[in-house]
Amino acid sequence: MKLFSTLIAVMLTFGSSSTVFANGEAIYKQVCMSCHSSGVARAPKVGDKAKWAPLIKEGQAILTAHGYVGVRGMPAKGGKPDLSVEHFAQATVYMVNQSGGAWKDPDVKMLKAIDVEIEARKIELAKKK
Ligand code: HEC
Repeated sequence: MKLFSTLIAVMLTFGSSSTVFANGEAIYKQVCMSCHSSGVARAPKVGDKAKWAPLIKEGQAILTAHGYVGVRGMPAKGGKPDLSVEHFAQATVYMVNQSGGAWKDPDVKMLKAIDVEIEARKIELAKKK
């Protein structure tokens, strides 16, 4: 019985922790942290405010879109082909807010703006080839 109640307690703690942590943080840990915590291939390190300041200035729609499409060492969608724009955007918000920014999780309007920038970026890249 003791074991059983302990198990329930563990399950409850685990279940609630996923709601306490912002979604963006969970996605960051799963997909982005491997590069962005250590700065692999010159990835801007989370917490490095000097590195992030000029990126944050680009604005949420543009920076998120460029990251999603991929730029140099940054693989498209963080290297996870089934990652949605919304989840990518949430992870980006988490990284930005750990690095001197104050962005909000994307709402429908922001997601649309990001989509527009993604299409624009793809056209721009296709022209360069
Ligand atoms: C395989 C390593 C790797 C993974 C995984 C990765 N990144 Fe990156 N990321 C990079 C590198 C390298 C750069 C720097 C690219 C450059 O400017 O040369 C970068 C740059 C960025 C930028 C700035 C883009 C710009 O326009 O300069 C954003 C935003 C970003 N990453 C978000 C993410 C998010 C969100 C995830 C997870 C969903 C993620 N990254 C996962 C390596 C990675």
